[in-house]
Amino acid sequence: MCGIIGYAGYRDVVSTILQGLTNLEYRGYDSAGIALQDNGEIKIYKTLGKLVNLKNELEKKKTEFEHPTMGIGHIRWATHGSPSLVNAHPHTCTCGKLVVVHNGIIENYKELREELINKGCKFRSQTDTETIAHLIAEEYSKTKDLEAAVRNSVKKLQGAYAICVMHKNAPDIIVGARKHAPMLIGIGEGENFIASDTPAIIEYTKKAVYLDDNQIAVVTKNNVKITDTNGNEIKKKIEILPWESMSLSKMGYKHFMLKEINEQPDVIRNNLSGKLFDIDAPVNLKEVKLDKAALKKLNKIEIIACGTSLHAAMVGKYIIEDFAGISVEVEASSEYIYRKTTTDASTLVVGVSQSGETADTITAIKQAKKKGAKILIITNRPDSNMARLADSLIPVNAGIEVSVAATKSYTAQLISFYLLAIHLAEVKESLDKSTLRNLKHELIQLPYKIEEILSDTTKIQECAKNFSSYKNFIYIARGVNLPTALEGALKLKEISYINATGYAAGELKHGPIAMLDETMPVLSVMIPGGITYEKVLSNSEEAKARNAKLIALTSSTDKALYNLFDAVLKIPKVSEILSPVITCVPLQLLAYYIAEFLGKDVDQPRNLAKSVTVE
Ligand code: F6R
Repeated sequence: MCGIIGYAGYRDVVSTILQGLTNLEYRGYDSAGIALQDNGEIKIYKTLGKLVNLKNELEKKKTEFEHPTMGIGHIRWATHGSPSLVNAHPHTCTCGKLVVVHNGIIENYKELREELINKGCKFRSQTDTETIAHLIAEEYSKTKDLEAAVRNSVKKLQGAYAICVMHKNAPDIIVGARKHAPMLIGIGEGENFIASDTPAIIEYTKKAVYLDDNQIAVVTKNNVKITDTNGNEIKKKIEILPWESMSLSKMGYKHFMLKEINEQPDVIRNNLSGKLFDIDAPVNLKEVKLDKAALKKLNKIEIIACGTSLHAAMVGKYIIEDFAGISVEVEASSEYIYRKTTTDASTLVVGVSQSGETADTITAIKQAKKKGAKILIITNRPDSNMARLADSLIPVNAGIEVSVAATKSYTAQLISFYLLAIHLAEVKESLDKSTLRNLKHELIQLPYKIEEILSDTTKIQECAKNFSSYKNFIYIARGVNLPTALEGALKLKEISYINATGYAAGELKHGPIAMLDETMPVLSVMIPGGITYEKVLSNSEEAKARNAKLIALTSSTDKALYNLFDAVLKIPKVSEILSPVITCVPLQLLAYYIAEFLGKDVDQPRNLAKSVTVE
């Protein structure tokens, strides 16, 4: 979603801020802007569309600024008001001396705006953010102290914000503040940074301080001061950031998405290491802080997540119920929030999120926590807001995921669920020794099977080319692979903009079959030896009878399949229960190659953001 970087220091301010914004670009945005403290003036530049437009604009106008000493930059993903120059950040007060960039949503902005208009403020945009600029400027006019002005103003804001503020008359400081939106301070030598996310600053420093809600930071090039809303100074621990700047490089791949798909075998190995190394030993999931007695008694789990993480959660439900016999409910966070749930102190609530910043999931987790539930978070960002709400935390260790479409974080989440389900089964003694051994043995083999798929993608590329002109797709599967069908369809939709829907194969005949004809390809996920193979095969035949073109995703070697299916995407032999870790990979690749073939912006699809920090 939106991204912020503020910089005060010895480097070239413009290029440092532009690089920081470039490293946040993957989050998705529609406009960008920068404000510079230069020679006693605030100078603002904004452009619509990609960051390259802002870079070109700054290059064109570089004679307008002399030697900027500080600056703040922003990429915007429109919430209030359309993507336009006037709505792009930074926003200013009426006289233009104060500038602000903002992530989040101010819920009471309409009331504040009306009050400020009555006091004579001139609004130019439709954004909630502009209200913040006028509000702080009004406070500043009373105190002439930017830090105090920010402190007094944020007390009046309802909603979520991470803000960076500069004022013409306070040329040495940038003030940052946050509530319900992430913000960190990067600490350097003779330079300091404020940012909404780690990648913005990782090229420059690995030392950072995370701001908590209701904290205010005053940053100069040589100093950082953090206070609470009453002005009391807070000493905070300097943390070492868990990322390498190298992870932001495509490493020779055409797109981050392709790189990240190819990283999956290593991500799985990484994820298993230290947790599963001996098939005769219990999995080592010390991250789950519930004691054995509590786990033994546990009979209700709720998993909440959104999008791709929700599909991982659906696989989680299937395998926890199968392995450990514990009843599991899975729900989209955005639905959980608006329902009288039966969550109570005996419930284990699992939040799943790549980013750890998804607003719906954070709200749902907070709600569950209030009801006394124990909270387990499965996330790729142990440094996130969601992780801070956890009683137990399983980091999925996928490394930074830059492409908007989640791939490696999905397989990493799946692996975490397999480890959790086996751990629960071991505590509950619900599976016999030989089943556990077989499961663990096969889990360890999964990276090799994915490597086999990745080593030759010709058939997938061919299929992508042959099917790229279709406007609609149906993906079908049953059982543990139903989430695979949903996830495969989601991948295709989000990066190629082709309409694709996943269905439980058995549901096809209850309505969707009416849509089938030669214009609607059907992709079937079928694992021979599993309990659903024959049924999905016969559902595929029903589709063929309606003239649909068919694609099979299967480990079957049955030659007869080639008579029924127009394309067969082969995967290595795998047991049905573990197959979701494998079946998702050709579907990620199929979506990737279709989108690539159609010339779409694979890594940054339109209208999407990497982390969705608004409800
Ligand atoms: C799809 C995708 C989204 C996210 C969803 C949840 O490729 O990336 O559907 O899965 O926005 O995000 P997280 O997992 O960060 O909570």
